[in-house]
Amino acid sequence: MHNTRLDALTEYPFQRLATLIQGVTPKAAPADQIAMSIGEPQHRPPELIRELLVRDIDGWGKYPPTPGTPDFRRAVADWAARRYRLPAGMIDGDANILPVAGSREALFMAAQLCVPPDKRGKRPTVLMPNPFYQVYFGAAVMHGAEPVFVPATAATGFQPDYALAGGDNLARAAMAYLCTPANPQGKVATLKRLTDTIRLAREHDFVLISDECYSEIYDGAAPAGALEACAALGGDLGNVLVFNSLSKRSSVPGLRSGFVAGDAKLIARFNKLRAHGGAVQPVPVLETAAALWRDETHVEANRALYRLKFADAAATFGNSHGYYTPDGGFFLWLDVGDGERATRALWAEAGVKVLPGAYLARPDATGANPGARYIRVALVHDRDRTKSALLRMKRVIDDLT
Ligand SMILES: Cc1ncc(COP(=O)(O)O)c(C=O)c1O
Repeated sequence: MHNTRLDALTEYPFQRLATLIQGVTPKAAPADQIAMSIGEPQHRPPELIRELLVRDIDGWGKYPPTPGTPDFRRAVADWAARRYRLPAGMIDGDANILPVAGSREALFMAAQLCVPPDKRGKRPTVLMPNPFYQVYFGAAVMHGAEPVFVPATAATGFQPDYALAGGDNLARAAMAYLCTPANPQGKVATLKRLTDTIRLAREHDFVLISDECYSEIYDGAAPAGALEACAALGGDLGNVLVFNSLSKRSSVPGLRSGFVAGDAKLIARFNKLRAHGGAVQPVPVLETAAALWRDETHVEANRALYRLKFADAAATFGNSHGYYTPDGGFFLWLDVGDGERATRALWAEAGVKVLPGAYLARPDATGANPGARYIRVALVHDRDRTKSALLRMKRVIDDLT
C-alpha cells in the first residue's frame, strides 16, 4: 500500500538539477566551484546563539509544549507589532501565534488545517503563484486539493492577482499561497495587493497563507505584510495566516525556528492539529529564537551585506538578461532564453551551480512553462566569492544569448 497522491509530485527541484548536470565536469577547480542553486544563507549566524543555546541545559531535558513558551509568543507578537506598526492589542501572543520548526513544514501542514474534504460539494482548490515555492504544490496535492496556478510573471509584476483565478476556482478555494517577497521572482506584494487578496479570501471564504520568510531581506522600504494589511482593513485577522522564520532574517536555517501568526480560530485549530503531528521546538531553541526576534542589530548587518552583493550584481549585469534588483529576498531571476541550457553551461564553463526556472513553475494554460527562460541564482555566499562567480556567469551567459 502507498499513497498514490505522491505519484503526482515531480521530483524536488534539486534532484532534477542533479539529474540535469549529471556527467557535466566543471572546468573550474573544486575551490572555485560554487552552489548558487540553493537558498541557504551562508552569512555567519549571530554570535549570540553560541551562548543562548546552551544556557538552559535543563530545557533540553523537557518535552517542548506544542504552543511554545509565553515568552517566545510575546517576543514574536512584539516584533510583529513593531515591524508592521500594528495597533496596541491587535496581536496577542497567546491567541494569535504558534512556533513552527521552520516555515516549510508549517506551510505544508497548513493544507491539512485548511483543505476540507469538499467545498460546497466540489473538490477544493488551492491557489498558488506560478512560478512558486514548490512546497505549495506538494501541500495541495497531498491533501487532496486541486492546485490552481495563477501567473506571477513579468506581465503581472511577478505577483499573482487571485481575482483572476476564475469564478469556479475561487468558489472552491480552500486556501491561497502568497509569497512576499517572492521566491524566486523577488517582487513584493503591495499593501493594496495584500488588502485586495484578504478581501477576496473573506468574500470566498478561503484562507490566505502569506509566506513572508524573506520579509527582512529587502532593498529600500521594508515590504508590507499581511498583518499590516489586516490592520489597514480594521484589525480583524480573519482568514489570514502569516508564516515567517529566522532562517533568512538571522541566517540560521539550521535552527529550524519560525512562527505562524493570524486568525485566532485557525491558530487554535492549528494548535490542536499540531499536538497530534506537528514538529515541536526545543525550549532552548525557543529561548534563542525569542532573543533573536528582539534584536535588530544583526538583521541590519545581514541586510546590508545582501545590499552590497546586489550592487555588485547590478554592476555586473546592468540591463542585460532581464536583470532587475529584486525588491526583497536574495535571488536573481535572470532571463537567459533557455534556463536548462544555461544551467548546464554555467556549471561546465564557470563552475557555478544555478537552478533552472522551469523547475520552479508549471506549464500555463497554453502549455508554456513561465520559468523556462529563467535561472534562479542565490546570492548567499560571501561578497568576494559571489562577485567573482557573477563575473564568470556573465561571460558564459553573454556567449549563450
Ligand atoms: C518561499 C519560501 N518559503 C519558505 C521557506 C522555508 O524556509 P524555512 O523552513 O527555513 O523557514 C523557504 C526556504 O527556502 C522559501 O524559499
